[in-house]
Amino acid sequence: MLDLVIRQGTLSDVQAIMALEQGSIEHPWESKAIETLITDSNKTCLIAELDGTIAAYVGAESVLDESNIGNIVTHKDYRGRGIATRLFDALLKELKEQGIAKVFLEVEHDNAPAIALYEKSGFTKYGHRRDYYGPGKDAVLMSKEL
Ligand SMILES: CC(C)(COP(=O)(O)OP(=O)(O)OC[C@H]1O[C@@H](n2cnc3c(N)ncnc32)[C@H](O)[C@@H]1OP(=O)(O)O)[C@@H](O)C(=O)NCCC(=O)NCCS
Repeated sequence: MLDLVIRQGTLSDVQAIMALEQGSIEHPWESKAIETLITDSNKTCLIAELDGTIAAYVGAESVLDESNIGNIVTHKDYRGRGIATRLFDALLKELKEQGIAKVFLEVEHDNAPAIALYEKSGFTKYGHRRDYYGPGKDAVLMSKEL
């Protein structure tokens, strides 16, 4: 098994998270949004570190006993090694400990690796939003009870 360290994100991780986003996401988050993910008390940011390098991160925002997972990204060089699976498991465990009862997320309909990851973690589809990410780019809405 990989010697993965999963820990809370800190403000010193912002640049590395932005670099992860820029290599992987069509509309990367602004640094301010990443900073608030780390500093706001209703948000959770976890980092997966491999040999001192940030390999993946995940962020969630909670309201009362529900949480929405905003993003999960594994660096391109580290994909397909089970890192997102372990990070996602750690996030769900942490959210449950925080008292969260239900978790939601949106994912682009043709993002097969992400949908496979979420289904593997027990998420099920409950809806669909047409053109959510732009023309022809529908969102699949998924949720899981913790
Ligand atoms: C989605 C993502 C985070 C997965 O990260 P990862 O570390 O490679 O994931 P894992 O190695 O833990 O694999 C998790 C599952 O995803 C699926 N998967 C991984 N790569 C896949 C691929 N290329 N095609 C189809 N399914 C794939 C598999 O079901 C895998 O589980 P398994 O190995 O037990 O079969 C990564 O592909 C990524 O960063 N994508 C770009 C950002 C993104 O789209 N994030 C989601 C936005 S909502």
